[in-house]
Amino acid sequence: MSHQSSIEKRRTFGIIAHPDAGKTTLTEKLLLFGGAIQTAGAVKNNKIKKSATSDFMEIEKQRGISVATSVMAFNYSDKQINILDTPGHKDFAEDTYRTLTAVDSVILVIDCANGVESQTEKLMEVCRMRNTPVIIFVNKMDRDGKDAITLLDELEEKLDIRVRPLTWPIGMGDRFQGVYNIYDRQLNLFQANKTKISKDIISISDVSSSELDEIIGNEAADELREELEMIDAIYDDFDRETYLSGEVAPVFFGSAVNNFGVQELLDTFIEISPSPRGRETDLRFIEPQEDKFSGFVFKIHANLDPKHRDRIAFLRIVSGKFERNKFYQHIRLDKKLKFPNPTSFMAQDKTVIEEAFPGDVVGLYDTGNFKIGDSLTEGEKLQFKGIPSFSPEIFQELENLDPMKSKQLDKGIRQLTDEGVAQMFIQQPGNRKIVGTVGQLQFEVIAYRLTHEYGAACRFAPKNYFKACWITTDNQQQLEQFLQAKTGNIAKDKDDNYVFLAETPFLLQMAEQDYPDLTFHKNSDFKLD
Ligand code: G4P
Repeated sequence: MSHQSSIEKRRTFGIIAHPDAGKTTLTEKLLLFGGAIQTAGAVKNNKIKKSATSDFMEIEKQRGISVATSVMAFNYSDKQINILDTPGHKDFAEDTYRTLTAVDSVILVIDCANGVESQTEKLMEVCRMRNTPVIIFVNKMDRDGKDAITLLDELEEKLDIRVRPLTWPIGMGDRFQGVYNIYDRQLNLFQANKTKISKDIISISDVSSSELDEIIGNEAADELREELEMIDAIYDDFDRETYLSGEVAPVFFGSAVNNFGVQELLDTFIEISPSPRGRETDLRFIEPQEDKFSGFVFKIHANLDPKHRDRIAFLRIVSGKFERNKFYQHIRLDKKLKFPNPTSFMAQDKTVIEEAFPGDVVGLYDTGNFKIGDSLTEGEKLQFKGIPSFSPEIFQELENLDPMKSKQLDKGIRQLTDEGVAQMFIQQPGNRKIVGTVGQLQFEVIAYRLTHEYGAACRFAPKNYFKACWITTDNQQQLEQFLQAKTGNIAKDKDDNYVFLAETPFLLQMAEQDYPDLTFHKNSDFKLD
């Protein structure tokens, strides 16, 4: 197969949702439709199995949330689908943001009763920043929820994106009869069925035909006709280009748990979604078609077996062909590395691969060489952009409880921050370690892992900061003045960049006013600008 067709057949995307909207269920149904798993419940069971083999994952099991982000690949039609799973729990939002740097599009799941929820808005902000194409799946139509038009208005307003329904629900809750596929002009009748894939699809190219009345009843048929007319009047025709540029989100309705509406979603998805796209670097834009291999690490996963300290770095391939046992350049370390066991994740199986193509994600066994955002190339000294650290929202000082173990503690916290579990800022005097995260849960994960994996006991003392802002300026004198005036609130990140730890939004605003030549960044992407 030519390089070009290997690229074109791949679809790499993420499913995002507010917790409980149905992300896990939809992921599982996509795998089921793709023939990658045979029975419903496999994805969840898999999660449970994993946690039984690892202490660290006990945390996940106990809390019933997905701490880890994983990759699931399967073939469907003539495409290779790579789903990058994202943790739904808000405390792991930063993990999700970073995973979104490695996808080419997303499917956003909405619960029809709850509409747009807080986490949905945040995730969409990240998609908008990157103009990621979005398809929306309105789930749980077998339950009573908001009516479809109200939902669409809410999506447009709260997510700040234009929408275009491609299927349309007939009724809802007890009265839910199915969806009309506007794109293919087909009627798909609903049967509540959690285990079987229903294929009761009837082609109705003309909705004015009396056949429609016979199938769904006069009242529902008239309502559907009226609504379809209204949709045509309100929304522009679907245009793939506006979807690909992230301006318009096509909308599907269904019920994931009942296997309903998922086939339409998947079939349209493979038709319209983008094949692997290139990425911006500090030097130039890299196209997937280029001959030379390049890729970046967007996630690092601690080994689930605490006896082995190695980790898996997840590498997204951007261009060229990645090959097993070939030497590549680790740009940050200026070091050549080769990988004897690169792993791909086909559905539930891990296999060692010989080669991988743009859009693929491979797992690289790592003994501490990788940090999130690292670039790997055939030699060109480029750094991929847009894999930022975001300002944490909760800050705590890490205190060592066992002075004999300070080396272990130091090493442990460095490795955990390399994995992206948290960010660390060092404050002087005394080399004090301020750890910042987006959620409380990470502190528990860190304390647990420091104790179990590194044998270092620690405690966290809360710090009352509101944001960590990276500082840049051309005015060195003003920077010096600022550093002197705010000693207690200045720290350095791991790469020695100055960071202002602001206690309140007001104090940050004051700093911006009083020191107009300083720029305060809420994410670390400026480093690459
Ligand atoms: P998440 O990953 O987004 O957090 O959501 P998940 O798929 O775990 O789904 C959350 C709950 O919503 C689950 O119920 C799931 O069965 C249910 N659900 C998913 N899709 C639909 C749907 O189309 N209709 C209805 N009525 N429910 C749906 P649970 O009780 O929390 O778990 P379970 O015991 O059913 O697995």
